[in-house]
Amino acid sequence: MASDVPGKSKEVRLVSYPTDEVTLDNFEVVETALAEPGEGQVVVRNHWMSLGTVYRDQMRPATNIPIPVFQLGQQMWGRTIGTVVESTVPSLVEGDLVEHFNGWREYAVGYAGEFTKRARELFPSPEYFLSNGPTAWRGMVDTAGVQEGDVVFVSGATTGVGCLAGHIAKARGARMVIGSTGSPDKIDFLRKEAGYDAAFDYHAGSVAEMLRDLAPEGITVCFDNVGGNQLEAALQVAAPGARFALCGSLSAQHGENAPRLDLQGLIPRELSLKGFATLHTPDQINDWNTQFSTWLSEDRVSYPRTVAAEEGVAGLPQAVVDLLAGRFSGTALAKLS
Ligand SMILES: NC(=O)c1ccc[n+]([C@@H]2O[C@H](COP(=O)([O-])OP(=O)(O)OC[C@H]3O[C@@H](n4cnc5c(N)ncnc54)[C@H](OP(=O)(O)O)[C@@H]3O)[C@@H](O)[C@H]2O)c1
Repeated sequence: MASDVPGKSKEVRLVSYPTDEVTLDNFEVVETALAEPGEGQVVVRNHWMSLGTVYRDQMRPATNIPIPVFQLGQQMWGRTIGTVVESTVPSLVEGDLVEHFNGWREYAVGYAGEFTKRARELFPSPEYFLSNGPTAWRGMVDTAGVQEGDVVFVSGATTGVGCLAGHIAKARGARMVIGSTGSPDKIDFLRKEAGYDAAFDYHAGSVAEMLRDLAPEGITVCFDNVGGNQLEAALQVAAPGARFALCGSLSAQHGENAPRLDLQGLIPRELSLKGFATLHTPDQINDWNTQFSTWLSEDRVSYPRTVAAEEGVAGLPQAVVDLLAGRFSGTALAKLS
């Protein structure tokens, strides 16, 4: 091991499946000996990891999400960015910035193929590479086909995905972008930090009525992160021919009811509903990072985010509990070192 790399590394493991709410008892923080890198391997010091509600689904032993779930007592995974501190391969050298999925730990040891080099100069700091932009772009542009003049509704707008979905819609010429969120302070956040024209608190009354007040002629695009009664309301307020990109079902992820579809009401308006699953291909990620960097330099978008944990991996369990309680806005990030 290189002299400046410690022989030990802290990491978080899931020790029990949550029955209802996720609690600190579901996790443990352990310190393990850091393995010597074998042939073809590198050692990476992790800087930042992104957090998402999808972790709740990954903490169930059986789910139908298209990504691996967490195993009890095993290393966990999550989207992370770090710097190579030791390498046995010419393709990655000490000091390279790399994105990977060996998160929840201070140091990662793995084969070079698990780590993708990122152009450090593209952004002001490494956590920009962890934005939810590839998902937001896939939904807003590739799935809903947002275009000039659209009136757009994003449910779950303060999520990491939702904030950038709103920015993308504005940058592509949408006439109006409306978001729903769970509290008055988050309404301010959406208007001031995430480029939204209008926002409402979905607890404050009938979602359909609040949406109709803001978009009397109907919405033409919906980017839905929530499902449930918010999707029902968006369908009621949709203009003929409106396009729906179905991204997530936060309400079901939190145990609420599935939406009831009024088929007789929506068929004559020829609405399109399309789900999408971002598999984050290298091309999708590179295209987004280049676009994001350009828009940032032109001051057309920002990177709405919250630092959910600052004190290294030991702060991750509390950060996940807080995330699931809806305490953050924008992409939730944990500083690992
Ligand atoms: N299709 C894909 O390829 C893809 C890829 C990535 C993520 N996703 C999905 O996209 C959605 C957003 O992901 P994310 O990681 O950006 O989210 P996130 O940042 O983890 O979102 C957290 C926020 O969700 C909101 N929320 C929680 N429970 C809710 C409920 N019952 N109803 C409405 N809002 C609720 C809360 O905001 P409020 O206080 O405003 O309620 C909370 O702050 C998730 O459903 C995720 O699974 C899909």
